[in-house]
Amino acid sequence: MQTRVLMVCLGNICRSPLAEGLLKSKVDPELVLVDSAGTGGYHIGNSPDPRSIAVAMKNNIDITSQRCRLFSKSDFARFDLIYAMDQSNYSDIVSLADDIQQIQKVRLLLEEIDIGTREVPDPYYGGARGFENVFDMIEEACEAVAKRISVLQNTNDGTD
Ligand code: 4NP
Repeated sequence: MQTRVLMVCLGNICRSPLAEGLLKSKVDPELVLVDSAGTGGYHIGNSPDPRSIAVAMKNNIDITSQRCRLFSKSDFARFDLIYAMDQSNYSDIVSLADDIQQIQKVRLLLEEIDIGTREVPDPYYGGARGFENVFDMIEEACEAVAKRISVLQNTNDGTD
């Protein structure tokens, strides 16, 4: 059984591309499908922000082939887990849900770890340091997500 995970932020050029790249680097692509999207349509079709590309590259993760797309209602059916980077993304996603089952797929990414904040700050208007900070937070959270999925998949083995 493949688990499908969607990472969501506002622009889909800074935070969620890092989350997509990081989680992909930690899972078996046969077992886990990872994608990302944005709740705002400002950069559709664009590559990730050069500052996200740079911090990822520095950590041996290539996100250059990613292209920005808008989150859509159909993503609720296509994905098992939908991770929002901040509370505003969470509210925007949930406002498009049809029922409780769809809402239950949505979580804040940082709820997977305990680092004293529940939101990945938007680094768009800051400098490179902001991107390094965000990378570190997302990295730790993606490690926890990879473990959660592995546990889920092992628990479901033989019962499907
Ligand atoms: P992201 O950052 O949500 O992490 O991709 C942003 C990128 C662009 C904009 C806002 C946030 N923008 O307003 O264009």
